[in-house]
Parts: sequence; C-alpha cells; structure tokens
Amino acid sequence: MDIEALLQVMKSRRHNGRVKADPIPDAHIRKMVEAASWAPSGNNAQPWEFIVVKSAETKTKLREILEGPARPGASHVPAVDPPAIIVVCGDTRFKETYPESVNRQEVFYSSLAAAIQNMHLAATALGLATGWGTIREAGMEPLRKLLDIPDAVEIVALVRAGYPQEVPAPKPRRAVEDAMHFDRYDRARLRDVKQAIESYGKGWGRL
Ligand SMILES: Cc1cc2nc3c(=O)[nH]c(=O)nc-3n(C[C@H](O)[C@H](O)[C@H](O)COP(=O)(O)O)c2cc1C
Repeated sequence: MDIEALLQVMKSRRHNGRVKADPIPDAHIRKMVEAASWAPSGNNAQPWEFIVVKSAETKTKLREILEGPARPGASHVPAVDPPAIIVVCGDTRFKETYPESVNRQEVFYSSLAAAIQNMHLAATALGLATGWGTIREAGMEPLRKLLDIPDAVEIVALVRAGYPQEVPAPKPRRAVEDAMHFDRYDRARLRDVKQAIESYGKGWGRL
C-alpha cells in the first residue's frame, strides 16, 4: 500500500471534457466498472448498472437530448463525442434493502457516487480523461426511452471517457484544515454561500 501513489491518482484526476475521438480499449472500460464494483454500498446492495454507449448513432441522439435548449450555467457538453459514455444508473428497488430508520435516498445516491468516483480514479490511473455529467431533469425521460431503461432504474450520471486532448490545470482546493473541525463544529468558520455564489456563480465551471 502506498498512500502517496493513491493521492497522486486522486490529485491527477481532472474533470476533463476535452477528449479525442480515438477509441479506448474495452479492457479499460471493464477496469473502470471493476473499480466501481468495489465501491462500498448500503447493505452491499450494489444498486448500480452501467450502460456503455459506444455507437455513434446513439451518441448523437444522446447529445441531442443532453444539449437541450441553451441556458446559462447549463452543463458543459463537449464539442467532440467521447469514444465511450457510461450511463450510470441505480436500481431504486434496492433501497428497500436498507434499514427503514435511515434516509434511503441518501444511502442510495451515496453508494452510486462512491462507484462513480472509483470509475474516475481507475480511468485516471489508465491515462484516460473523464467527465462527470449531470443530466437535466427534462432529459431524463428521453434518455430512458433512448436506452430502454426500466422504470425502476434511475439514471444518475454520465461518465465520459477518452484520451485527453489536453490536461487542464488542477482547480484550487480549500486548505485541508479549512474543512476540519475537532470535537465540535467551529461555527466561526461557517462558510458564506451567498458570497460564493456571487464570486463564481451557479453551474459547473468554477474557476
Ligand atoms: C455530482 C457531480 C456532478 C457534476 N456534474 C457536472 C456537469 O454536469 N457538468 C460539468 O461540466 N461538470 C460536472 N461536475 C464536475 C465538477 O464541475 C468538477 O468536479 C469540479 O469543478 C472540480 O473540478 P475537478 O473535478 O477537475 O477537480 C460534476 C461533479 C460532481 C461531483
């Protein structure tokens, strides 16, 4: 085990929409899904399903759904279709396997986010660039139809993967100590969200 090597992979991961159209090996996609499968999940229910979209025709339709009407702050849709788009879904029926005393939504989405992050990290270690894509609410039903996703299965995010055209500079991070509290919440350090929205706005492109 090598914490520095692990941190290096974590710190090298960039949200990067600028990928080449060149195909990526299926073995890489499989590794990403293998990494996802080792994520923790509530009650080990592993509610995830991964739809790997590689067909040019489906990607074109997907792009039409994702782009929707232009609006400020819309998620960035890359100019070049990436060679693989992995649509990450969760089978909502598995929420029933969690204890009734907890917020099941929270456990469900946390499990899926852990899986998604593992995919990004595996891709980074394989030299791939990835993007984390949120789907507009209005795009959900058209996407469900396009990919024939059953009603019980919810679409959670897209993971776009390809070889990087260029690697963007890392985005700044809060100082480690800034987010740490000891024994109790230090209310003096409650952050100013209004000021944050004023300084970098709503959307995905912060700094
Ligand atoms: C849950 C989640 C949803 C995101 N959705 C989008 C998105 O729809 N479009 C986008 O451009 N970036 C999206 N991002 C990426 C963030 O903007 C990005 O992670 C952040 O700006 C930090 O940059 P970095 O990942 O390169 O360090 C999302 C990230 C997360 C964790």
